[in-house]
Amino acid sequence: MTKTILVTGAAGFVGFHASRKLIDAGFNVIGIDNINDYYTPKLKYARLEVLSKSVNFRFEKANISDPASLEKAVSGETVTHILHLAAQAGVRYSLENPRAYVDTNLVGHLNILELARHTSTLEHLIYASSSSVYGDREGGPFRETDIVRKPASLYAATKIGGEMLAQSYSALYGIPQTGLRFFTVYGPWGRPDMAYFIFAEKMSRGEPIQLFAPDEMRRDFTFIDDIANVLPVIVHTPPTDGHAIYNLGNSNPNTLMELVTAVENSFEIVAEKQILPKQMGDVSHTFADATSALRDFGFNAETSLQDGIDKFATWYKNTWMNESE
Ligand SMILES: NC(=O)c1ccc[n+]([C@@H]2O[C@H](COP(=O)([O-])OP(=O)(O)OC[C@H]3O[C@@H](n4cnc5c(N)ncnc54)[C@H](O)[C@@H]3O)[C@@H](O)[C@H]2O)c1
Repeated sequence: MTKTILVTGAAGFVGFHASRKLIDAGFNVIGIDNINDYYTPKLKYARLEVLSKSVNFRFEKANISDPASLEKAVSGETVTHILHLAAQAGVRYSLENPRAYVDTNLVGHLNILELARHTSTLEHLIYASSSSVYGDREGGPFRETDIVRKPASLYAATKIGGEMLAQSYSALYGIPQTGLRFFTVYGPWGRPDMAYFIFAEKMSRGEPIQLFAPDEMRRDFTFIDDIANVLPVIVHTPPTDGHAIYNLGNSNPNTLMELVTAVENSFEIVAEKQILPKQMGDVSHTFADATSALRDFGFNAETSLQDGIDKFATWYKNTWMNESE
């Protein structure tokens, strides 16, 4: 029997790629998103246009912070899986609009858990967490068993909170759940608020780029396809004992300066650089131990930073530069 998966945040970067892979894997996908304007809705609509070409994709505009809106979106459907990706993302924006993080990442997450609790056909709820839960730490690789109680930003605090909500619902109601700690995911159809995208935009316009503590900053940049390819496997593999959490990261951190070089190579532009101090809420370093995801799902982030940025640049130049005009 065909399985039906609710994908929240389907118009978002990861939600778009995940929905495509799940359709290919034979799922009926119900995508929901509130299409907020944290970054240009034009990109969200462009992603939905691609997804809507499949007969196995249906989109409903819905706000997960509002339980009635969520229930309406799935009414009459036999939902067997939920992939919960909708979130207020971004570290820096949490300084400006803290309530958006609590409304979506905590209240919204609770509404998803309530939906799961009342969906008798549900086999597995998978949700996005983040490498930011590890806080501002040196060393690594970071392991799922590490204690995480020192968030450096409100975004990170709500992501730790989401994991705690999930754990309590598994303990109380036996909902099989998997939390995925994504490490700086990038690629085609990516997020315009992230550094590589901002660099591409500024460099294409001949504007200088701002680098915050570029020699200190290291990130485990993870290419979107490496994540999206393994999502159908994860969706089909509920944990045997309630709630499991996995790192999904490249396990090979690069400096911010290496990211700049990769973008410069792909776009064949040398950027004018303004070096600035570290920003509030930023962590210096992320580094995933992804051996559990390799063992249980065959996850292997094999795309190099340069190859991944080349693929982003191809999409940016051939598709996005025309669409965004
Ligand atoms: N991209 C990364 O590097 C990264 C890293 C760590 C964790 N994550 C997590 O992965 C998930 C997906 O991130 P993304 O990069 O695709 O971000 P994104 O912003 O592109 O996608 C999130 C989507 O959720 C939607 N949304 C936000 N609030 C909503 C609400 N109240 N109701 C309905 N929809 C709402 C947005 O409109 C957006 O389309 C998020 O949970 C994010 O926290 C992403």
